[in-house]
Amino acid sequence: MADRSDRAGSSRRPMVLVLHGPNLNLLGEREPDVYGDLSLAEINRRIAARAEALGLGVRSVQSNLEGELVTEIQQARTWAAAVVINPAGYSHTSVAIRDAVAAVPIPVVEVHLSNPLAREDFRHADLVGAAARGVVSGFGWRGYVLALQAVADFLSDGEAPGSSGIGGRSAEIGPA
Ligand code: DQA
Repeated sequence: MADRSDRAGSSRRPMVLVLHGPNLNLLGEREPDVYGDLSLAEINRRIAARAEALGLGVRSVQSNLEGELVTEIQQARTWAAAVVINPAGYSHTSVAIRDAVAAVPIPVVEVHLSNPLAREDFRHADLVGAAARGVVSGFGWRGYVLALQAVADFLSDGEAPGSSGIGGRSAEIGPA
């Protein structure tokens, strides 16, 4: 099975897949009053810098296609210690991405730049977030670094990759 660490240099850093869903390739020009004026490339630079500081390796991928996001999540179980995902519009509609998140034995943290709960009713349903380890919403690009910080914390606490934490979907945490 593939390694979950970065073999670059002498370090063996836990790897994190950062997945950006549909229309996030247009960040910077897309509704900047809602999503901010940073491009996705600039956000990815900030994610990489924070990952480096936290001792994590990161691979960032953007796709407008639901099936590609499903495949990336599935494959991450063979090489990544965790996934950070902004499923964008698919958050509210995709059973397939929700099922992929539930299928993999690694923690998945969902991020939204905006706060969907403060927006239109159709954004209040979050199928993907309901299967995730946790959700960070409403802090703009900083949500990604908050998610990375959470990943670094629960990895350094020795949380098992398959654990979904308190209130999560697995029964790994319970009475002794
Ligand atoms: C989003 C919120 C979604 O409702 C929307 O469809 C997006 C971006 C966010 O990051 O705030 O595309 O996920």
